Amino acid sequence: MGIRGVVLCVLAVVLQSCTIAEVRADNDEKPILYKDASQPVAVRVSDLYGRMTLDEKIGQMTQIEITVSNESSVSKYYIGSVLSGGGSVPATNATVHQWTNMTDYVQRLALKTRLGIPEIYGIDAVHGHNNVYGATIFPHNIGLGCTRDPALLERIGSATALEVRATGIPYVFAPCIAVCRDPRWGRCYESYSEDPEVVRSMTTIIDGLQGRSPADREGPYVQNSRKVAACAKHFVGDGGTTNGIDENNTVIDYDGLVNIHMKAYPDAIAKGVSTVMASYSSWNGIKMHANRFLLTDVLKGQLGFKGFIISDWQAVERITDPPGVNYTLATYLALNAGVDMVMVPYNYTDFISVVKNLVAAKQIPMSRIEDAVKRILRVKFETGLFEKPYADESLRSFLGAPSHRALAREAVRKSLVLLKNGKGSQSLLPLNKNATKILIVGAHADDLGLQCGGWTITWQGQAGNNITKGTTILKGIKQSVSANSKVVHLAKPRTGAAKNKGYEYAIVVVGEEPYAEMYGDNMNLTLSSSYQELIKDTCSYVKCVVVMVSGRPLVVEPIVSHMDAFVAAWLPGTEGAGVADMLFGRYDFQGKLSRTWFKRVDQLPMNVGDQNYDPLYPFGFGLKMGLNDR
Ligand code: GLC
Repeated sequence: MGIRGVVLCVLAVVLQSCTIAEVRADNDEKPILYKDASQPVAVRVSDLYGRMTLDEKIGQMTQIEITVSNESSVSKYYIGSVLSGGGSVPATNATVHQWTNMTDYVQRLALKTRLGIPEIYGIDAVHGHNNVYGATIFPHNIGLGCTRDPALLERIGSATALEVRATGIPYVFAPCIAVCRDPRWGRCYESYSEDPEVVRSMTTIIDGLQGRSPADREGPYVQNSRKVAACAKHFVGDGGTTNGIDENNTVIDYDGLVNIHMKAYPDAIAKGVSTVMASYSSWNGIKMHANRFLLTDVLKGQLGFKGFIISDWQAVERITDPPGVNYTLATYLALNAGVDMVMVPYNYTDFISVVKNLVAAKQIPMSRIEDAVKRILRVKFETGLFEKPYADESLRSFLGAPSHRALAREAVRKSLVLLKNGKGSQSLLPLNKNATKILIVGAHADDLGLQCGGWTITWQGQAGNNITKGTTILKGIKQSVSANSKVVHLAKPRTGAAKNKGYEYAIVVVGEEPYAEMYGDNMNLTLSSSYQELIKDTCSYVKCVVVMVSGRPLVVEPIVSHMDAFVAAWLPGTEGAGVADMLFGRYDFQGKLSRTWFKRVDQLPMNVGDQNYDPLYPFGFGLKMGLNDR
């Protein structure tokens, strides 16, 4: 370490020792206002902040992963937040007790520190409490956008909050309010729509997650300990990158950025969203995590956001400009841009050391530290963590509750979009539930993992029926048809399997395999040739409805003429019976495309309102069967 480094370290130690002395002397005189729940939050924040050392302040700005959370991290470094990354669970198929044991363990470590500041545990509950075995998994956002039902979203938020709190967790990295403008993006299913107005309307999920913030109220709001702090993400322009390449560059003028990608943030802020996550992506070449104008001047200034900005996972290390940037410079850029809490999540000692040195060198002003820490403390007070830091055992039965599964089944029904129903005047749907013999083909018909998609139990998701509890599409079909109907399921039938077997109709369920983030980036969006052949072959022998289980529209124009009927089911989650409800006419379709269904990939990006708009099925399209809901 050079002389400069030694000087910096000495300065940091001197600064630290003086601060402790001042703080200790101070503590003996003042009443402990921050522990008094009757005090206004602003008073509690100010009182607590005034007692904190620099180490304690920087600790609050540090979020680490659960796998590195123990006495020598959480307690020793005054860590402010712990997270479960995608798929980071206490055990395989962990019980709710194992979850609460884990979250309470970490909280005890935080509360044993000098000032007893509770940590806030965060997790991605992006379509239900999706890391947790047995939780209700709701349709992914692309399907929810097709419901055009903001009230439904609020109810989903409430149910999700209860299931998250059941596991002792008070904070979720949701909702994603990205406006996906190119379905080649691997996260397009996390976006409610290509249309910013539809995305705006879906921010009612925040009302469900956090509780409805009183109209005259400003700033982060969490109604009670059955609600959770939410996170609007990823600010800003995550869904507008070139060719949909994940974490890449969004090239657009400021008006476009504001009127498309930023459109839903004022609504989220007005609803009291507690946190905002910065986007990995860049705007016109500048990394969002280093963009002081957008994070501070716009989000905190113009839009008046008063919660805290959290970085994305290892996003500080992913600041790659200016060329040759090192971790110290990246940290300097991110914190001075306005990031308040850093999702480190592993190398926390480096992060803390770098921040201390930057403060000692006056590269990061104490005013920036103060702004960040006070925002974090405000969210913790508003989330009730100082009064109720531990799991509430009375909530455990909400995990995967039947009423939540019924709600998810309703969401599935409302998310399905009927794109084709019959050839000529002859409609195929609703299907005859008294048919003597019915053929179901395709692996997606009987696979919970495939119908849930990414961000389910594991980060990427995976095929299989044992990944969690739920109802497959096939099981829903069997529950819907009469006892005398013979249902035959062939996951991978040989050619001609539908020929002359007496099937009244076939249900062909195909789609995508699970993926998340950059692993879902796909430049050709073509249904696999085996699935295409399956559709052509099956539908050549028997009337068929194709049910597409995918995170986005795919190229189907070449084969849609083979289909008698075509339904977009998106990624419906654990309650696959909702698909059968629609196929057999228990309810009529209400879903309307939240995204343009293109003809060819070379048309992309192509969004509603564009010139030369030439879709297979336009944004907002959706047929009805002409039924009265039964
Ligand atoms: C991921 C995602 C973000 C998520 C975070 C924590 O990389 O970008 O949406 O909340 O890391 O899992």
